[in-house]
Parts: sequence; C-alpha cells; structure tokens
Amino acid sequence: MKLLEDRIHLEGRVLGNDILKVDRFLTHQIDYKLMKAIGKRFADVFADSGVTKVITIEASGIAPAIYAAEALDVPMVFAKKAKNITMNDELLTTEVYSFTKKMTSTVQISKKFIEENDKVLIIDDFLANGQAALGLIKLMEQANSEVVGLGMVIEKSFQDGRKQLLDKGLKLVSLARIEKFEKGEVVFAKADDS
Ligand code: G4P
Ligand code: NA
Ligand code: NA
Repeated sequence: MKLLEDRIHLEGRVLGNDILKVDRFLTHQIDYKLMKAIGKRFADVFADSGVTKVITIEASGIAPAIYAAEALDVPMVFAKKAKNITMNDELLTTEVYSFTKKMTSTVQISKKFIEENDKVLIIDDFLANGQAALGLIKLMEQANSEVVGLGMVIEKSFQDGRKQLLDKGLKLVSLARIEKFEKGEVVFAKADDS
C-alpha cells in the first residue's frame, strides 16, 4: 500500500537492528484517515471471504481493526492482555510469548463474543515472529470458529511470522513488507496487496 509505505519513509524511525518506531501515526498518535484507508484496503482484499467478525489484540491492533470492521460492516473484538475485574464470563484464553519483549502474557476473549461458525479476520499492527497471531488463532480454535485470513499493517519479513502463518495454510495480506533495514532506512519487499 503506497500511502502506508510513503508514511513509513516519512515518519518511521529505525531503532537498533530490528525495530521500527511508528508512534506518529500507528502505535501512539493515530492518524485516523490513514487507519480508515488501511481498514478499507483490508475490507477490499477480504471482501469474498465471508468475514463475520474482525479480531485483534490490544492495544495497537485496535485502530486498524475497527476501520476494517467498519468497512466490512461486522463487529470487532479485541483480545485483552490483563484480566479485568468485570471479566467474570467464561473465557477463551492462551499464553503468548513475545521474543521482542522476552515475556509471556495471557490473552483472553470472553466466549460469548465468538460464535461457533464465525468466520474471523485477524488484524494486527505488526507481524514480527507471529506469536500474537498464533495466540489469536488458538483462541479461535477453542471457539470452533474459522480463521479466514490475516491482515497485517506492517510485516517485518526478515522475522519468522510470515512463514509460521503460511505454514498453517492461511491467507496473509501485509500492506507494508519490510525486507530489511539498511543504514537506518527501510527497504520494502513487494506488499501482498500490490
Ligand atoms: P509477534 O507477535 O509477531 O511474535 O511479535 P513480538 O512478540 O515480537 O511483538 C511484541 C510487541 O511488539 C507487539 O506489540 C508488536 O506489535 C510489537 N512490535 C514488534 N515489532 C515491532 C516494531 O518493529 N515496531 C513496533 N513499534 N512494535 C513492534 P504488543 O506489545 O503486544 O502490543 P501493543 O500494546 O504495543 O499494541
Ligand atoms: Na500489536
Ligand atoms: Na504495538
């Protein structure tokens, strides 16, 4: 998605060897116009997938996910990382290990929000090692719902996530694919939607 790649070139900052800071439009301050365009693009590429629900994980997945849900005209549900005091329903729950943060967290969704036979589109801001996405897939398996695809805003193609998800036979669409960082600049691979 050219609009997104241009924005990454303009406002993204490379930190160390493998982190891209995008807090000016995605992970802290949010550009709703860009998010809306991203949501629309996901809706277009998954238009024929029969999506009944969009799923993401808090916090930074929520913005692109809500606009994808709007464009597909379906509900959006986000997995929570900490157990809220009002979450006394039956839960779908799994552990997610983050290689970036070197810690494990529990993620959960109330059972009542995912129905058997739901066709789920998983959206997230970053695809790195794929652990968050694999965790969401496990939650959907617990609910006997079907994952019909994954939409990632930014994929770091030099990490393992893409392979993990394609190995499961899933349809993956990443709107910006980062092949590598070179002298502090982002080098893109061909995006899935281009
Ligand atoms: P994985 O799910 O693909 O295995 O990713 P990983 O554990 O490596 O990522 C952990 C967290 O770091 C995720 O956010 C993910 O979105 C974020 N992340 C990974 N790589 C980058 C990057 O290059 N830049 C930025 N800005 N973030 C990155 P989170 O902590 O789970 O959630 P959130 O509350 O920040 O959304
Ligand atoms: Na995220
Ligand atoms: Na994040």
